Amino acid sequence: MFRHFRSDINAVFENDPAARSRFEVIFTYSGLHAIWAHRIAHMLFRRKWFTVARMVSQFSRFMTGIEIHPGATIGHRLFIDHGMGIVIGETCEIGDDVVIYQGVTLGGTGKEKGKRHPTIGNNVVIGSGAKVLGSFSIGDNSNIGSNAVVLREVPDNCTVVGNPGRVVRRNGERVGDRLDHKQLPDPVIEMFREMQKEINGLKSEVEKLRQPVAGGETRS
Ligand SMILES: CC(C)(COP(=O)(O)OP(=O)(O)OC[C@H]1O[C@@H](n2cnc3c(N)ncnc32)[C@H](O)[C@@H]1OP(=O)(O)O)[C@@H](O)C(=O)NCCC(=O)NCCS
Repeated sequence: MFRHFRSDINAVFENDPAARSRFEVIFTYSGLHAIWAHRIAHMLFRRKWFTVARMVSQFSRFMTGIEIHPGATIGHRLFIDHGMGIVIGETCEIGDDVVIYQGVTLGGTGKEKGKRHPTIGNNVVIGSGAKVLGSFSIGDNSNIGSNAVVLREVPDNCTVVGNPGRVVRRNGERVGDRLDHKQLPDPVIEMFREMQKEINGLKSEVEKLRQPVAGGETRS
């Protein structure tokens, strides 16, 4: 556990140009304090000291404003910037070199049991206020934009923005046309369009059946 501490400090210097000295980082970075408290809570959790683990995690939440469930699995060099308002659920798994900003929720939808929180790949950035909800994966090297609400799997090397979150960039290439914020896809309108098409098809079928057949009668 303690061997991670040095790399946790180095992660701050790699990600935060405002970090000045090791002394300052160790004593003033609440994200770092939350990660260290979590490493202790997680160790207790794995030894089945569930209540004590929860007490450590809740004390850390009180001090830092960051709530990490003791059961969550966190990789190397996680960097939590600012931190206030972050919630990380019990079955969440976070890879290496991940950056998480304030206000992020890595949670469940409230409908699942068992594994119900996301799995975050390596080298992922999750912007401030983003919500990643459910038991799916965020691929390596992906960026989740500020305030995105992600409800489904994200492949590697993608940028996801918006609510509901959608991929706007994959492997460095834009996906679809230029993002027009006034023309977001609307699934309800899409459904009505499909229904209208079907109604038009049925109408023309009925018209055809009404055509008079040889002998002057209409088909019934
Ligand atoms: C998403 C993000 C990581 C940028 O990733 P990127 O792959 O470089 O993506 P781009 O900047 O090329 O943006 C792609 C498109 O998404 C849009 N976009 C970017 N971030 C967005 C967001 N948070 N919400 C909505 N749209 C967003 C851009 O306007 C752009 O649209 P366009 O194609 O119409 O021009 C970045 O915008 C972001 O949100 N970072 C989080 C930073 C943060 O939380 N900082 C807090 C500091 S305290």
